[in-house]
Amino acid sequence: MRAMTVTPGKSDSATVGEVSEPPVADGSILVEGLLTGICGTDIELVSGAFGSGRPGSDHLVVGHESLGRVLEAPAASGFAPGDLVAGVVRRPDPVPCPACARGEWDFCRNGLYTERGIKEMDGYGAERWRVDPYFAVPVPAELGELGVLVEPASILTKAWEQVDQVGARSWFGPQHVLVTGAGPIGLLAALIAQQRGYDVHVLDRVTDGPKPELVRALGGTYLTDLGQLDVVPDVVIEATGAGQLVFDCASLLPPAGVMCLAGIHPGPATVDVQLDALVRQLVVRNAALVGTVNAGKRHYADAVDVLLAADRAWLRRLITRTVPLSQWPDALVREPDDIKVVVDLRG
Ligand code: BGC
Repeated sequence: MRAMTVTPGKSDSATVGEVSEPPVADGSILVEGLLTGICGTDIELVSGAFGSGRPGSDHLVVGHESLGRVLEAPAASGFAPGDLVAGVVRRPDPVPCPACARGEWDFCRNGLYTERGIKEMDGYGAERWRVDPYFAVPVPAELGELGVLVEPASILTKAWEQVDQVGARSWFGPQHVLVTGAGPIGLLAALIAQQRGYDVHVLDRVTDGPKPELVRALGGTYLTDLGQLDVVPDVVIEATGAGQLVFDCASLLPPAGVMCLAGIHPGPATVDVQLDALVRQLVVRNAALVGTVNAGKRHYADAVDVLLAADRAWLRRLITRTVPLSQWPDALVREPDDIKVVVDLRG
């Protein structure tokens, strides 16, 4: 069968690979791959910066944002042929560490976790894949192809959960939210903020294309410069990873403010900052910076709820380009109006 493959550690090795059928060891549910979303992690994988294949394999099937249709499933799995399904990305480490032992693989302490399509496990970018029922997320039929957004949305349901948990240190009643970066992560962060009834501001560099309008359609305010922000953000969801912007936003946090770092910048960039002054301010304001990566099982279920509650037409506008499997490396080349690019794994 055909799959989206790379040679780990080698740059520009993205190709349409011919690979064996998925091994039964991957799980008892056999799935027809429908769509795979591309994100910054895939671009870094293809650059050779990181990523590793199955032990003993010279290639890696990429694709961690998945949507498929069940072909075969054991009766006890809760899945039946025809069901839509998305796969969880991370697997607990084999030791396991105390967090993985409790099902919190997204908080793995020893780094020995594996990830489908990223670290030591083949991904979901193939015509067929297998998954264990425990790591299979049911996608309601009414979401259809929008189910490919479940994994990226899970990153944000986890991020918001962390904001809530940090906020619960004391009375917490956020009103104003700043999201930095209007890519898929930023826009999904803004969607959740809107669903929660917060006043949303989204900052991005671009002045045209679909992003400003998508923010306005949420009732949010679109900014192209931090100086345009006319409120004090109780919460910042940072999706750019750009050092100077992170610093500037942290400086805006009010007492008990929370900033969640959800983005990584390819960097490295050098930024000259007055860190002592920022530290003083964060301390005297009880302000918190919290990093977040990956997602646990409940965050996927929460992501499905977020997508079900959203306007489908708005969600559809997040998927700006669909590339066939035969040309999937084209999906890695960013085009000006791209938000989420997906690969169609069928035919
Ligand atoms: C994925 C996460 C993963 C991370 C690092 C992200 O793109 O969404 O699930 O943990 O990359 O590998």
